Amino acid sequence: GQWGSPDTMTSEIFDDTWEFPRGDLTLENILGEGEFGQVVKAQAKNLNGSGSTSVVAVKMLKPEASGTEYQDLASEFQLMKEVDHPNVIKLLGVCSQKGPLYLIVEYCEFGSLRSFLRASQFKNQSSWDDKKRQVDNEEPDGSQAREITIRDLFVFAWQIAKGMDYLAGLKIVHRDLAARNVLVSEGLKLKISDFGLSRDVYEMDTYLKLSKGRIPVKWMAPESLYRQVYTTKSDIWSYGIVLWETVTLGASPYPGIPAERLFPLLTTGYRMDRPEECPDELYAIMQKCWKSEPEQRPTFTELVRFLDNILQQNT
Ligand code: ADE
Repeated sequence: GQWGSPDTMTSEIFDDTWEFPRGDLTLENILGEGEFGQVVKAQAKNLNGSGSTSVVAVKMLKPEASGTEYQDLASEFQLMKEVDHPNVIKLLGVCSQKGPLYLIVEYCEFGSLRSFLRASQFKNQSSWDDKKRQVDNEEPDGSQAREITIRDLFVFAWQIAKGMDYLAGLKIVHRDLAARNVLVSEGLKLKISDFGLSRDVYEMDTYLKLSKGRIPVKWMAPESLYRQVYTTKSDIWSYGIVLWETVTLGASPYPGIPAERLFPLLTTGYRMDRPEECPDELYAIMQKCWKSEPEQRPTFTELVRFLDNILQQNT
C-alpha cells in the first residue's frame, strides 16, 4: 500500500492503500466537536514519503459513540476516498487497525467558514476597535490579515458552488451543507466537509432533537423537513442559506424564529429578507434556491456559470 500496512490480517472494509501507521501520528488540540465525534489537530510523520512532518486534522469518534456513529464515520471514509477536488476536503489517510478509527484529512488553518466570517467582523470594524482589541489581547481565533470585501464573498460563493457541483456530479447528496461545514484553508481556499453525518452540535439550537438524531432545520428544504426527501435540489436550498450566512458574515438564519415555527412559515411562502449590504444579484440567487418546487431551483452548474460571469464583470 501507499504507506504500507502493519497488519493486513485484521483489515476488513478498509483498504490498505489508505492505511497510515498510528504511531506516526501525534495528536494535539481539539479543533471541532460534535455530539459523538471530534476533530483533533495532529502532526503526521512522513505522510507522503517526504520525510518531514505535516499538520493534519484527524476525525474520530468520542467514547460515547455507538455502532451507528462508527458506521457513519466508516461511510464517510468510503465517500471521501472517491473525491478529489480543490473545494472538497481531502482524505490523506486512515488508521483503522489496532485501535479507534481515525480519518486523517487536510488541515484548514482558518477553521469553519462560519467562525472565519464571524472573526472577520472585527477586522472589518474601525481601526480604533482593532487597536483596543489588540491591547486587550482579544484577537479572535481564525482572523486573517486583511478585511473581507464584497468580491471575497462572491469568490466564496463561487468556490462552494464549484465544490458542490463536483459532488453533485458524483451523485453525492451532502444533506448538511452549512457555513459550519465549510472549512477555510490558506489563501482563503474553501473546502466542503462533513459529508458523513457527524454533525457539529456546538450550537444546540441549530439542530432540532428528534428520535433519529439532530436535524439542522433552518438549512433544510421544505421537502426534507416534511417528507425526509434529500436530493441535490435540497442541497441547493441549503446553499441559499449558506449564501445568507456568508453575506451576513456568519449570522444565524431566521433570527428570532424558533425552529418549530419554520414548518408553517415556509409552507405559507415566508422567506428571509434581503440582508442589509447584500448585493441584489446575490439575493436573487438566494430567492431562486428557495423556490418551493425543487425543479424550479437552479443547478450548481448554473450557479457556477452565473457567479463566473459576475466575477468577470467586476475584475
Ligand atoms: N475543524 C474541523 N475540521 C477541520 C480541519 N480539517 N481543519 C481545521 N479545522 C477543522
